[in-house]
Amino acid sequence: MYLTKEEEKIYDGEYGEVLEKCMNLLVSLGDIYGAEKLIPISSSQISGVSYKTIGDIGLEFLRDFANEKVEVSVPSTLNPCGMDVDNWKKLGFPEDFAKKQLEIIDCFKKIGAEISCTCTPYLTGNLPRFREHIAWAESSAVSFANSVIGAKTNREGGPAALASAIIGKTPYYGYHLDENRKATHIIEVNIENPSIDVYGALGYIVGKTVKNGIPYFKNIKNINNDELKALGAAMAASSGVALYHVENITPEAKKAIDDNLEKITIDMDDIKDAYEELNTCNEAPDLICIGCPHCSLREIKEIAEFIKKNSIKLKCDLWICTSLHMKAIADRMGYTRIIEKAGGEIVKDTCMVVAPIEDMGYKRVATNSGKAGVYLPSFCKSEVIYGNIKDILK
Ligand code: F3S
Repeated sequence: MYLTKEEEKIYDGEYGEVLEKCMNLLVSLGDIYGAEKLIPISSSQISGVSYKTIGDIGLEFLRDFANEKVEVSVPSTLNPCGMDVDNWKKLGFPEDFAKKQLEIIDCFKKIGAEISCTCTPYLTGNLPRFREHIAWAESSAVSFANSVIGAKTNREGGPAALASAIIGKTPYYGYHLDENRKATHIIEVNIENPSIDVYGALGYIVGKTVKNGIPYFKNIKNINNDELKALGAAMAASSGVALYHVENITPEAKKAIDDNLEKITIDMDDIKDAYEELNTCNEAPDLICIGCPHCSLREIKEIAEFIKKNSIKLKCDLWICTSLHMKAIADRMGYTRIIEKAGGEIVKDTCMVVAPIEDMGYKRVATNSGKAGVYLPSFCKSEVIYGNIKDILK
């Protein structure tokens, strides 16, 4: 891979060990994937923030980074961590877990990453422009950035996103190249009145069908950003899909389609099959969780209004997972008070997958998220009740 003189100096360790390690990682990736050079990025989204997922080895690695006094060179936001950073005690997070998690947060703070702790950075200020190159980890955010915004990123792992954040560059391969952004399959969608859970089920099936391909959806109308994020997240969870197009909706759709692509039709029978696969349990939940990916304000508002209108009193815990930013507005709008009065919580900075819910006694989780439906059994050893959030709340 071609390196500039300056990049060579970093590679050779002239600017210290940490920068050398970061550059080595990016060059190795570039060599593996046949990149010709490194390109500048405008932002990074760093994953591997929860103590549950990185453990003591990850914490040790971050301590070394933080002690070297290196800083990120582009705006860099963080994925959800393992707990609500401010309200962990009230929510019952274990004390020893919290101690380690706070140290991780502190390490990221020292290297200059924004302690945002959300998987929807595009809703909270890390919003790339169309065609901008970025290096994001977090598969649902990657999918949204590539598909809905038309920015360009590979599906980075945590260490590569961190290395890119420090160096400010990424190897030029994969989804950074226009020729790799064309559709591979046409998906004709015949479904009625889709809600978020239906889009989650659709994403789940399409991901399993196209695997690492690029689906082009036809016959999807009036889809909003929340539904697009649910669709992309579920596809990214059941497969390696990092980019999709929706006819007349997403910005690159027109140029992404060729004749002679394989055509697949998805109808309500397929959606029902997906619900059956995602549902692993017939019993009542001990936790209801929405916000995978993190809820927008619109989603929180809808839940609050529904709870109020139907005078819902919860018989189990409810977590509405979101960012610090959305929670602050929900507080001001009075949504938090309505949700808390019913027995629920708006939980920020974390989610049902990267929080240690299995150690907090939760065994059966109800959700409307296709991505959570895929991950909960393996990451949290939970049974899953998958469905429409209004039905679940009722
Ligand atoms: Fe976000 Fe956690 Fe889901 S990081 S996409 S809410 S698994």
